[in-house]
Formats: sequence, structure tokens, C-alpha cells
Amino acid sequence: ATTLEQAIEGNVYQKDAWTNTPPSILAKLPRRLHQQENHPISILRNLIENHFKDFQAISPASAIVTTHMNFDELGFPADHPGRSLTDSYYLNQTHMLRTHTSAHEVETFRAGHDKWLLSADVYRRDEIDSSHYPVFHQMEGARVWTQDQLQDLKSLNAKMAEELAACPLVIEDISISSESNPYQPEHDPELAKEIAQNLKHSLNSMIFRLFGQLKAKSTEEEPLRVRWIEAFFPFTTPSYEVEVFWNGEWLEILGCGVVMQKTLNNASVPEKQGWAFGLGLERIAMILFSIPDIRLFWSEDARFLRQFQEGRITTFKPYSKYPTCYKDLSFWLPQEKNPKEARGAKAAGGGMTGTLAFHENDFCEIVRDVAGDLIESVTLIDDFTNKKTGRQSKCYRLNYRSMDRSLLNEEVNALQGEVIQRLVEELHIEPR
Ligand code: PHE
Repeated sequence: ATTLEQAIEGNVYQKDAWTNTPPSILAKLPRRLHQQENHPISILRNLIENHFKDFQAISPASAIVTTHMNFDELGFPADHPGRSLTDSYYLNQTHMLRTHTSAHEVETFRAGHDKWLLSADVYRRDEIDSSHYPVFHQMEGARVWTQDQLQDLKSLNAKMAEELAACPLVIEDISISSESNPYQPEHDPELAKEIAQNLKHSLNSMIFRLFGQLKAKSTEEEPLRVRWIEAFFPFTTPSYEVEVFWNGEWLEILGCGVVMQKTLNNASVPEKQGWAFGLGLERIAMILFSIPDIRLFWSEDARFLRQFQEGRITTFKPYSKYPTCYKDLSFWLPQEKNPKEARGAKAAGGGMTGTLAFHENDFCEIVRDVAGDLIESVTLIDDFTNKKTGRQSKCYRLNYRSMDRSLLNEEVNALQGEVIQRLVEELHIEPR
């Protein structure tokens, strides 16, 4: 491949103004943690697959999808923020690393699957802290019925409701369908209601299966609390988000809803109706296995990997925490005179605002590209604008820590130096 093209997984992609995926991210494509036996992500995937007994388990071969699959086909508007270069990884204008497993909904429905679970790695540009990593794993689940099969739904739901009533689970449903979260005009509201009911029963029972056992083991008597709230996704309506009350906090674990009929029509199965959900495997695994930092999932250290075993939820025992080393970085943002240069690729993207000269995700991307998993968090600690000159200054604290060993101060200084150099070259910041 020449410098204008890039070979990935045996295919050649022409580079263009959209190309923004660094080699450090491409290096994650072959890892496939969800398929590594005895890895917590794989253990969790298996537990969920075993719960949804007769669902087809699917795992797409590649993380590279068309922007059409990831966005257009699912009804994302042209100006949706998720499409921007600051939020997603593009190979070029037409191909990208999927940002969610929903990118495979149409092809999976088209293949004729009615009950399925699809697990995969997904990629998003993001901030840096203990629960955000540019690669994570999602599981998409869906169930659809033909018009005939829908007739049995009411009695199926009654049976599921009865089973759930026997579980010590407190379900708070504050998502009562309203004008803001409507059924689809082409659906019979009675049937759509049963589909939404079935979705809720199916997920409540899965959540109980995963979290309920943990609760039972703990000394507290309190039942598990689950909360359903109204949400919005371009490819479902009504839509919901589910949160679990864990260690005194509500944690969002999944998004779901009644599949937009347009999706099923697109997939050439207009006679079917049903639901879909997408859940974040890391989020749930961090809770279930008590894993404190999302970077640990990528560790190849036996002290991490040896602790887990297929079929079992066990508590992670930290193998000594190595010290952190932080470096503060104060700088002036680039001056307005060269916003084009600073945001060249974005400006060429068209259709986006493109006036922002500095985006934190771009900053974090460079930090990660240089420091890899040695960067633990990046936090803004100061932000001010000089009243006279109008210039804006920011100060970030970069926290470095290895999961596996002690870092040397010289080593961290070298990383910090490289970070600064790249920030100056690529984002045109001016260190103070
Ligand atoms: N794809 C959505 C996300 O990543 C989740 C979702 C999946 C919502 C399926 C509805 C239906 O946030």
C-alpha cells in the first residue's frame, strides 16, 4: 500500500480527509477479547448466551463496517454528533470501525434470524478515565415475531411475569409510554405494548440472573433494584435505558426498544415485529468481577488472566497497585487565525460545525497513541480565558500508571515530552 492507502485485514482502504484511526487502535482489531476463553468478557458473554437459551449466538468477523451500516441504514440524521471525526474512528469517508453492534441489525435480520445475540468489539473516541477505553465490547440481542406468532405473545408474557414476581427484584418503571416515547404509527398499539412488555420481562430476568446471585451472596438483605427510563434511539421506539442500583449509584447498563419497522423492512422481513437491546459488556463485567479499571481487560499479565474461569463469577483480587506518576500540562489553545490547519480533516468533512479549534477527544487520542495503556486518566484541572487578549488556556493532569510494574520517572518524562511535541505539531497548542 502507498501512503495514500492502507491495508487492513487484507483489504485496501484509500485514505482521505476522514481517515483518523491511529495504528494503536488498529492493533486492537485482532484481540477479540469476547472470544478469549476464561477472559471476563467472554465469561460474561457465555453467561448471557446461556440465559437466552435458544437464541443464535453470532460474532461478526471484522470490526470494519460501512458508515451506511453504522448510521444511515439505522436512521441517524446527517448531523448526528456520533458521526463526527471527534467521536468515531474512520478509515475513510465510507468505512469506519463500528461504534455499536446495532450496525449489524439489518444484515442479521436479513439473514433470517429471529432470536439472536451478537457480540463484538466496538470503537469510540472518548475521554480517558477508569471506565472509558476507546475499544469496548457490546452485545446486541433481538427477538422478532411473524404476525401469527405475535398472537401467542400475551400468554407468554403472563407466564414470564409470574416467574419474575417470584424473584427478589425491585423494578421501577418510570418509562410509561407517552407522547415523548411513542409506539410506531404502523403498529397496532396493543401488540406493540406486548412486545415492549416482553422486552422488559426478558431483560429483567437476565439482569436478575446476573446480579441477583451476587446480591444473594452478599450479607445485605436488600433486593436488587432495576430502573427503566425513557430513552431515544433513531432505530427504536418506544426506547428505554436500564439502570441497576449498585454500590449506592444508578449505573446505566443497556439501551433497548421496539425495533423501527423501517429496519425490518430494509432487511426484507416487513412481516416481522420485535425488540432489540444493546449492552456494554465491560460495564457489567466491572461490577460482577469487581474489576476497578477498564484497562485491566487488555492486560496480558498472567496475574490478571489466571484469576478467571469460564462459567464462574469471581471477585478480582488486585495484585498490588503500582504507584501513579502525574504530569501537569498547561497550554494556550491555538489562535483563531489558523483554525483550518488545526482542524483540517474536520473542516473538509462538511456538514459539521467545524469551528471548534480544540476538542478534548483529539487531545486524549494523542495521549493514548503515545502512552498506550500506561495512561490512567486525563483530567482538566484549570481552564481560563485571558480577559485582555481573549486567549484561552487549559491545564490537564495526566496520570500515568502501569497495571503490571513500576514506571521510572525518566520513562514518564519521555512519554510526556512526546505527548507535548505531538500536541504542538498536530493540535497547534502552545505550552506555557
Ligand atoms: N446501539 C445502542 C448504543 O450503543 C444501544 C441499543 C441497541 C439501543 C439496540 C436500542 C436497541 O447505545
